[in-house]
Amino acid sequence: MTLTRRQLLKAGAMAAVPAVLPGFPARAQNIDYNFATIPSSGQCLPTVGIGCRNYRGPESPTQAAEFRDTFATYHRLGGKVVDTSPNYGNSEQVIGNLMRDLGIREQLWVATKVDRETIDDGIQRMEGSFNRLGGDHFDLMQVHNLRGVETQLPTLQAWKGQGRFRHIGVTTSNDRQYPDLERLMHNYPLDFIQLDYSLGNRGAAERLLPLAEDRGIAVLVNLPFGRGRLFSAVGNRPLPDWTTDIDATSWAQVFLKYIYSHSGTVIPIPGTTKPHHAADNLQAATGPIPDRALRREMELFIDPLLA
Ligand SMILES: NC(=O)c1ccc[n+]([C@@H]2O[C@H](COP(=O)([O-])OP(=O)(O)OC[C@H]3O[C@@H](n4cnc5c(N)ncnc54)[C@H](OP(=O)(O)O)[C@@H]3O)[C@@H](O)[C@H]2O)c1
Repeated sequence: MTLTRRQLLKAGAMAAVPAVLPGFPARAQNIDYNFATIPSSGQCLPTVGIGCRNYRGPESPTQAAEFRDTFATYHRLGGKVVDTSPNYGNSEQVIGNLMRDLGIREQLWVATKVDRETIDDGIQRMEGSFNRLGGDHFDLMQVHNLRGVETQLPTLQAWKGQGRFRHIGVTTSNDRQYPDLERLMHNYPLDFIQLDYSLGNRGAAERLLPLAEDRGIAVLVNLPFGRGRLFSAVGNRPLPDWTTDIDATSWAQVFLKYIYSHSGTVIPIPGTTKPHHAADNLQAATGPIPDRALRREMELFIDPLLA
């Protein structure tokens, strides 16, 4: 029997689902998610998270309801990874309150950040994050944009040893910081890096993503849509025929599947405050993923639209 590419892709995606630790079911809410394994801990996560840069305010009861609805939808559908920072206005307070009100703090995998220049300021900043987000541990603490990184990493390592952080890492969204990031990946026992990578911004694939895979470092991907630039590039174009190979029913799913189909542990964290977008993005964590040939086809499709 000869399998079609579509059948092969489906078979490959199913085979990629790994063993799962307690608390992180492979079938969440009866949905079969594709899971990624964190190399340093063996913990498994659905391959799409949520970014919380825009959870500020809220500025109206309507916006408050939208924030709550988005978080409730994300959780109900089995989403896990939540990324925030004390630098995103009052986002930590907003989502901390939401998680408490909805009673879902312990069921989510919470990542936040620190970016202070002194040890004491860093400690104060991180204690503030615990007050705002709640819980007795964070799943990931990251040094934001490498600011104060050599000063903060020893505290992060010590608190990881005490069980206050499950994983530690560093973030950037600027390719000028890539050489420094690469040096840190060689010199520190990082569980995670976070960087910018998308179908329209592929610089991280040159050295950093292969290095992360080599060193067993998991990757969270920020700006997976280039802050919306990819949606502007495709405009109202219908989905090309090849998107049926990966069961994509929206452009967001195309962009997210491109990211996490990179080899290694690569998890995009699209930012959204809309319930239907949270559901759309999580849908990208299901079904077949592009193979090398289809990834190239996707790149050839998007490049002229961004030129
Ligand atoms: N250096 C760093 O550490 C760093 C830097 C930047 C970002 N980050 C993290 O990465 C996360 C993601 O980055 P980002 O939020 O700036 O940019 P992004 O994820 O590339 O794009 C967000 C934009 O896409 C829209 N969107 C989301 N889902 C969509 C869907 N399914 N269909 C159509 N539009 C959709 C959002 O609008 P709606 O809200 O209307 O859905 C928003 O305008 C941030 O939230 C943050 O957690 C970290």
